[in-house]
Amino acid sequence: MLPFTRPSIGEAEQQAVQEVLASGWITSGPKVQAFETALADYLGGGVQVRLFNSATSALEAVLYASNIGAGDEVIVPAMSFVATANVVVRVGATPVFVDVDLLSRNLSADAVAAAITEKTRAIMPVHFAGRAVEMTPIYSLAEKHGLLVIEDAAQAIGTRYRHQKIGASGNPVCFSFHPNKNITTIEGGAVACADASLLARLERIRFHGISRDAEGNMDVTEWGGKMNMPDVSAAMGLVQLGRLDGFNRRRRELARRYLENMPEHPALILPQDVEGHSWHMFCICLDFNRLATSRQQVQQQLAQAGIGVGMHYPAMPGFTLYQQQGNRLEDYPQAARIGEQTMTLPLFPDMRDEDVDRVCKAMEAILGGAAK
Ligand SMILES: Cc1ncc(COP(=O)(O)O)c(C=O)c1O
Repeated sequence: MLPFTRPSIGEAEQQAVQEVLASGWITSGPKVQAFETALADYLGGGVQVRLFNSATSALEAVLYASNIGAGDEVIVPAMSFVATANVVVRVGATPVFVDVDLLSRNLSADAVAAAITEKTRAIMPVHFAGRAVEMTPIYSLAEKHGLLVIEDAAQAIGTRYRHQKIGASGNPVCFSFHPNKNITTIEGGAVACADASLLARLERIRFHGISRDAEGNMDVTEWGGKMNMPDVSAAMGLVQLGRLDGFNRRRRELARRYLENMPEHPALILPQDVEGHSWHMFCICLDFNRLATSRQQVQQQLAQAGIGVGMHYPAMPGFTLYQQQGNRLEDYPQAARIGEQTMTLPLFPDMRDEDVDRVCKAMEAILGGAAK
C-alpha cells in the first residue's frame, strides 16, 4: 500500500535519538538549544526560534503572549486544519473566517480587508500545503490597521516567499514537526520571530511561567503551561533539518511529475507549481457534479489499487463548534467546495517516480470510467 505520506527516518535520526537516551538528560536541554539556533540560522532574517511540543502549543502561546483574548477577533482562513481556529477559541477570542482561493487554498488581502472590524486584533494566514500566502499586501493591511500577523506555517517549513524563507519576516511564524510534515520531531513545533520581549514571554509561557534571575533563583511572574520540546525530539529535528532542502527538492520533482503525467479532465483541478512552494501535500479537487462517481467510490478504487489518499480538510465553518458560534458554511463557497471535493494524493520524499506514474494511471482509469 502506498500511503499518502510517510516520514523519512534514517540511521542518523535513530543514532541521534539513541545518544540522547544514553546521555542521562532526555527532556529539554542542550539539543533544544542547538536546534533553536540551527533553525534560526536556516530561516535567516535575524530571527530567533523557540521550540514547543506542537504547532498548536506554539500558536496558542503566541496568541496568549500577544494578550489576545476575550472580545478580540482573529481572522483565519475557512480552509485549514482545525487547530488554526481552535487556538483562537482556546485563548477566549473569536476566529473570524474568510474564504480562500480555489487553486491556492490561501486567503487573500482583499478577503481579509472585508472582514476587519473594530475588534480585530490579528490576522492568521495559513500557507496551505506549503504554498506561500501572498504576504506583502497582508503586511500592508496589518500595518494600516495596527494588527498583528501571526503566520500558521505548520505546513510550510522550507517554503520561500519572494526569495525569503517563510519564518524570516520577524513577525511570529509557527511551524509544525508532526510526522506528516516536511520534517518531523515526532511531535513538535516552533515559533520564529524577532521581538525580544515576545520571545522572553514565550519562554515563560511554554514552561509554567517560570523565570530565573542571574543566580538561578526561580520566580513565577505569570501563567505558563507545559509546552516544551524534549531533547529526544530536538536531536531528531537537528538531523531532519539538515535533510530538509533535499526532501523539499524531491517533493518538487515528484509534484512536477504528477503535473506532467496526470490526465487532463474537465472535472480535475490540479495544484499549481509556484516559486518557493515546499510541496507539503499534493491536493487535487474533483468536481463530482461532472462525474458519475463519488469521492468515497474514488477513494475505494484507489485503495483497491494499493493507493492511500488523505482529505485535507473539511471547511472549518461547517464543524458543529463553529456553527454554534454562528458561522454558515454557505458563506465560504470555495472552502466548502474544497472540503467536499479535495483529495490528497501520495507525496513524500522516499516515493519513487514509478509510484507517481502508478497513481496517475489509476486516476486516468477512474476518470475515464466515470464519464457522465
Ligand atoms: C495548518 C495547520 N496548523 C496547525 C497544525 C497543528 O500542528 P501540530 O500537530 O504540530 O499541533 C497543523 C497540523 O496539521 C496544520 O496543518
